[in-house]
Amino acid sequence: MTIRILGIETSCDETAAAVVEDGHVILSNIVASQAEFHAQYGGVYPEMASRMHLEVIASVVEEALVSAHLGWGDLDAIAVTYGPGLPGSLLVGLNFAKGAALVEDLPLVPVNHLEGHFYAHWLDVVHEDRPSDHLRFPLLALIVSGGHTELVLATDHGQYERLGSTRDDAAGEAFDKVARMLKLGYPGGPAIEEAAQVGDPAVFNLPRAWLPDTYDFSFSGLKTAVLRTLQKYSGSVPPQFYNNMAAAFQESVVDVLVGKTARAAREYAVRAVLLSGGVSANTRLRERARAEIPVPVYMLPKILCTDNAAMIAAAGYFRFQAGDRAGWDLDIDPGLQLK
Ligand code: KG4
Ligand code: ZN
Repeated sequence: MTIRILGIETSCDETAAAVVEDGHVILSNIVASQAEFHAQYGGVYPEMASRMHLEVIASVVEEALVSAHLGWGDLDAIAVTYGPGLPGSLLVGLNFAKGAALVEDLPLVPVNHLEGHFYAHWLDVVHEDRPSDHLRFPLLALIVSGGHTELVLATDHGQYERLGSTRDDAAGEAFDKVARMLKLGYPGGPAIEEAAQVGDPAVFNLPRAWLPDTYDFSFSGLKTAVLRTLQKYSGSVPPQFYNNMAAAFQESVVDVLVGKTARAAREYAVRAVLLSGGVSANTRLRERARAEIPVPVYMLPKILCTDNAAMIAAAGYFRFQAGDRAGWDLDIDPGLQLK
């Protein structure tokens, strides 16, 4: 029997809804991003994020059904992100999903946003890197986004061990903050990547927080080093400074992300590494991960790296099959972890 799940995701600044069949066939994938609005603040403004979700959630869900050519009666369940994320943002998606599940008499499946990033790799996409039968456990996932930097060992569906995470800024947050210092705009990741293409990383010797004996990460020292170097310039800064600094910063982040992922891949003898989250759209990270990690490294098209609801519906499918159902008392869990 075919299982069709509507996924709803509002954990940060993307209002997203999607319909996915059997955990892998994307029937629709609608993402309304608020990034342009938050750009003026150089980061997500939480109070406005939740209000903007509220304005568009109903039409985004409607569009997901229309573009899948389905009605509510064709669905088997609703999967919704209940954490981690911004409290006000999570509440909008969760309450909308609860209301729809109640009215349409559909089961509600609770999904951890990070598990969504992991299951994005089960979605069918036309992608050169992705032979259809590649997903064999144990797998290692590097989830790097604006809110997260997680290195996770998955030994089976739903069986996770968190090997490391950030002790301060998330990788994407560091990209966003450094881009702001370098006046490159928001979101910082793509802006830094673009500037880095014409920059020379060797001009600056930035630190790498290796934190030996742990798989944890730290990016705040690197951020401070960029700021200190910038402060040495009084008066005008030559334009090439920004490009070189962007390249040096990107190289430092990628060194540590790839270095630690490669080490964990060897230590845990995983079958493959899965890259997810907004930062995994970074071309330099993708190139070096592929070259330096000693097992196959799978990457996603950019639309599935950043927040979307197809990944929530995919994770929801596995949870649905395992019998997970949320009660009407399901609450948001802004600090939820993957375990
Ligand atoms: O997964 P995502 O859309 O949202 C969160 O869950 O946070 O990730 C957004 C983050 C932002 O910090 C953005 O700067 C970063 O991903 N990002 C990138 C790139 N594209 C997006 N970072 C580095 N290089 C990129 N090309
Ligand atoms: Zn995310």
